[in-house]
Amino acid sequence: MAKSEKNKQNFKAPYRLLISGFLLLVVLIAVVFYFYDEAGIALSDTSNDDVEYVNIEEDTERIVNGIHVRTGFIVSDGMQQVINNCTNCHSAKLVTQNRMSKEGWTATIRWMQKTQNLWDLGENEGVIVDYLAKNYGPIKKGRREGLKDIEWYPLK
Ligand code: HEC
Repeated sequence: MAKSEKNKQNFKAPYRLLISGFLLLVVLIAVVFYFYDEAGIALSDTSNDDVEYVNIEEDTERIVNGIHVRTGFIVSDGMQQVINNCTNCHSAKLVTQNRMSKEGWTATIRWMQKTQNLWDLGENEGVIVDYLAKNYGPIKKGRREGLKDIEWYPLK
């Protein structure tokens, strides 16, 4: 009797150790998984919800501070017609770096039509010239104009 009891205990001791060791391992793994998750590290799924994928198609038409980012054009009526007709052969910069009156822009268009194969702009020409003269018109003179209609009075 005494012998078999002792045998049982001899058997139990390492068995208990095994079980408690196993439980400890499970808890440890649970803790590690929990903190990994907290840190935002995906264990099996590598996709990350925080990443914003930029739609390139949309991004090229981005407008920042009234400027169409891809071309550099000022956003205003007629911009789309200008993009469609004036950026095919040369960069938009060649347009935006110039400043001309309506007559000047029309003359430039005529010159390109005569010598550079620019097509007939049709009814878009008015819209385009208006856009260009309004947004890329001659720069105003730096000096203010002379005073007019002043009622001078003698100093006493
Ligand atoms: C069919 C091709 C073509 C199209 C479309 C075109 N251009 Fe041009 N443009 C040219 C060429 C070629 C030049 C000369 C480029 C150079 O000198 O390097 C030029 C030059 C210019 C210049 C510079 C002129 C100068 O005196 O230096 C301006 C400004 C200009 N284009 C504006 C426009 C505008 C505004 C439109 C839209 C209405 C337009 N272009 C559409 C071909 C084109």
